[in-house]
Amino acid sequence: MSRRMSELSSPYQVCVAGTGSYVPERILTNEELAAKVDTSDEWIVTRTGIKERRIAAEGEFTSHMATHAARRALEQAGLAAEDVELIIVATITPDTPTPATACYVQQSLGANHAVAFDISAACSGFLYAMKISKRLISDGAFKNALIIGAEKLSAVTNWEDRTTCVLFGDGAGAAVLRRAEPHEGSILATEMGTDGNLTHLLNIPGGGTACPITSANVNDHLVTLTMMGKEVFKHAVNRMKEAAEKVIDRADLKAEDIACVIPHQANLRIIDAIADRLAVPNERVFVNLDKYGNTSAAAVAIALDEANRTGAFKRGEHIVLVVFGAGLTWAAAAIRW
Ligand code: COA
Repeated sequence: MSRRMSELSSPYQVCVAGTGSYVPERILTNEELAAKVDTSDEWIVTRTGIKERRIAAEGEFTSHMATHAARRALEQAGLAAEDVELIIVATITPDTPTPATACYVQQSLGANHAVAFDISAACSGFLYAMKISKRLISDGAFKNALIIGAEKLSAVTNWEDRTTCVLFGDGAGAAVLRRAEPHEGSILATEMGTDGNLTHLLNIPGGGTACPITSANVNDHLVTLTMMGKEVFKHAVNRMKEAAEKVIDRADLKAEDIACVIPHQANLRIIDAIADRLAVPNERVFVNLDKYGNTSAAAVAIALDEANRTGAFKRGEHIVLVVFGAGLTWAAAAIRW
């Protein structure tokens, strides 16, 4: 059976019933960064499109941001926390190595009947969570799922490294997935991929068993994000284009059928290159990285919520989400809203 047939012939179709997002109050501007490291607003805007990012308060953890975003998504979906059956948090900045951040979110929401766990797929995590939960709902294992992308990247940023510290920010985005009624929209096609041969291009080397947290490793900046930006850039454009094309094809869509493309928010030049290769005009590509920078797993989730709430697409229209991140990982989804 082809992948298209198997996705469409699952017992239940799955829709996105609500979205939510949250960003911390504190805004960190390019000018403020330029006062700390050798950079400029002009360099950051020209090379990335980022103007400012949000930074979580000291006592504000990933689970707190995730909970705020989740409450908004539940409210929009009209789903009570106690009726949530599955919670997946995608994050590379969990509150604690164990238990999972999803467990803290379950507790703070009072979602006492939910199964809760985290996944680690960097910037691709939210769409990995979407594919996993879509399959679990369509197979009948769960009736609904709360998927969340949440990150406190400011906690793993080397604030002395101008090549990375200008890129990242904090925030959370969430969506409620549930069985769709016949008249409702549905997630039509999903795709995900990984290339573990390229782990070295983008990683946090320390903090795990390979390079434990010691004061020497912390002083050597081994527990912060490192990236070979130019290499990552090339792979990002190619992989995101391929993943988006796959879901567009499997959903039987053409570029002109897509009301909105919501890409991972890492770099405006990457987004422009993908729009160009997919032949989707820029005005149908959602961008908010100027306000938030790259928030890893949260980025596409926050963008989906903002696009949804600002009317970037309507009921019955088609949207495509596409992401890319450390791993390397990538994923895409085509949705009839
Ligand atoms: N301010 C000023 N100069 C900077 C700088 C900064 N913040 N960061 C780097 N530079 C300098 C470099 O040192 C280099 O100087 P040199 O030519 O004297 O060596 C020059 O600017 C060019 O650096 P380079 O790394 O080639 O820039 P770039 O055009 O590739 O842009 C990124 C850098 C990180 C913005 C870009 O590569 C990128 O976005 N990569 C992909 C990131 C991504 O998608 N991540 C997604 C996965 S989550």
